[in-house]
Amino acid sequence: MIQVLDAFRTPLDYARLTREELRDRILRRKEELNAVILGHNYQRVEIQEVSDFLGDSLGLSQEAARTDADVIVFCGVHFMAETAKILSPDKTVLMPDLRAGCPMADFVTGDSLRRLKARYPDAVVVAYVNSTAEVKAESDICCTSANAVQVVDSIPADRTILFVPDRNLARYTAEKSGRPYVVAGQEQGEVGPGSIVAWDGYCYVHDDLVLEELAEARRKHPRALVVIHPEARADLLAEADFVTSTSKMVDIAEEHDELIIGTERGLIDRLKQRFPEKTLIPLSGAAICGNMKMNTLAKLAWSLDHGAHEVVLDEDVRERAERSLRRMLDLSGGWRAPTAEEEALEEAGLRPGGCGCA
Ligand code: 13P
Ligand code: SF4
Repeated sequence: MIQVLDAFRTPLDYARLTREELRDRILRRKEELNAVILGHNYQRVEIQEVSDFLGDSLGLSQEAARTDADVIVFCGVHFMAETAKILSPDKTVLMPDLRAGCPMADFVTGDSLRRLKARYPDAVVVAYVNSTAEVKAESDICCTSANAVQVVDSIPADRTILFVPDRNLARYTAEKSGRPYVVAGQEQGEVGPGSIVAWDGYCYVHDDLVLEELAEARRKHPRALVVIHPEARADLLAEADFVTSTSKMVDIAEEHDELIIGTERGLIDRLKQRFPEKTLIPLSGAAICGNMKMNTLAKLAWSLDHGAHEVVLDEDVRERAERSLRRMLDLSGGWRAPTAEEEALEEAGLRPGGCGCA
């Protein structure tokens, strides 16, 4: 059993330990608490190295829904830890730094969404998971960058959709689904049937990627294929060979030797470590999410030792948010109760337990 000494009271005390000492402490403490560390693809490399599961928002929510650990420590941003708590209410969910929020998620509040819903009482509300629990609770279904098109395609073609909070992902999804698109507040009269009405929010990391940087990267690497996250602007996405979520970018890097990658640097650091022989170029060296980077090894060790910061949600909000998330997971094959037939096969040892997804 690790002793928590008086000398280790704050994350700053932990920051005096070496990387190896912190790593050791984290791994031992994790065993003691039956804890699991979930890390987003944008985390610092040293956090990625101690994470039990590393992935995009969809993979992380699927993992949060199925883990049998007692404690989930979330190394990502606040909405991701909230998502874990929504899906695993009986588990303790911890964040190494509560200030690690997502500015995109903060574009829309429960109140402002309720006002938009009042203007479109018959619309279906799709909430990108980069949103607060309260906004998810006000929504009909969630989506991630990996399944936004699938989610929108599951909605009858003539229903208006309110898509919050990312205008760029909304536009990309509208284009793929063949639906009209307009930003809320910029409508010219009545919107057409099946329109996507997007909240005017964005991610500062991806919205800041510009064509000039892409042109420069292409000039230096003319043979490289271009892969960009759908949170980027439309003019950039139009130039991409692949538009996809962070985890799919990992799959693409497995198959190609030279890529220009338009997303947060953390993912590219990870890919370079994994494929040192490949040419993997960040579209922009400045694409860094300061919020994701607030998590450090020292804060993670502190979090495990001190059981902080615990994510707590109002139960009514949690239950309503869970409905929206479960609808998404049901659609994406990420979570569903096994059928009677599958349960029988499982008992007979003929089918592996769990949902069977990757
Ligand atoms: P992914 O779901 O693709 O990992 O994206 C999450 C995110 O925050 C991107 O900025
Ligand atoms: Fe939010 Fe953008 Fe950071 Fe992702 S990269 S967590 S969307 S601010």
